[in-house]
Amino acid sequence: MHPLSTAMSGLQALKEAEAGCSRCSLYLHATQVVPGEGPADARLMFVGEQPGDAEDMRGLPFVGPAGRLLDRAIADAGLDRIRIFVTNAVKHFKFAQRGKRRLHKRPDAYEIDRCRWWLDQERAIVEPAIVVALGATAARGVLGRSVTISKVRGEILEDNDGGRVLITVHPSYLLRIQGDDEREEAYRSFVQDLRVCAEALERLDRQQPLNGAPDGKR
Ligand code: URA
Repeated sequence: MHPLSTAMSGLQALKEAEAGCSRCSLYLHATQVVPGEGPADARLMFVGEQPGDAEDMRGLPFVGPAGRLLDRAIADAGLDRIRIFVTNAVKHFKFAQRGKRRLHKRPDAYEIDRCRWWLDQERAIVEPAIVVALGATAARGVLGRSVTISKVRGEILEDNDGGRVLITVHPSYLLRIQGDDEREEAYRSFVQDLRVCAEALERLDRQQPLNGAPDGKR
């Protein structure tokens, strides 16, 4: 079979397996699992935290307000959204019910680590050139350990398996910033982090090293 067909059927099988996930208790209250979405041969994989209310209802990642901001930033960075595989570190919505509202709750380390089982399989199938981790939960899901975002953001790093990873903030963080100037400044920094990916992909295409290292990795 052609490698792309193999990857596509691999993702389909993975989606079906994820639908029955009970690796932690989050499946008990979520509407459905939200698997990753995008081309099986994507060169970029974006990893978010967990589905939000809109994503939980629709079964698709990043289709709510944070997703709209992410789409804008991707375009402003010169990247093509439809060529990116988008997924989450945790695949079920975690929330607290307050009357009719479902308020987002941050996944804990146990839930993130249990869900790495799925994220690792998505990465193994898609084999992206660069994984972009959006925020602390995503960074833990991708690297398997906690990091301080401000210390590591915006650079192409290498994970334990030699994969290239770029860590940046989560778009929801930008949405929460109150001041217009501060929010605009944070948005520009976010786009700049994504531009690092765009430039790195171009260098990889030209078989040029990233950051000057001879083997093309840092
Ligand atoms: N936030 C995330 O981290 N992921 C989504 O899919 C939506 C919002």
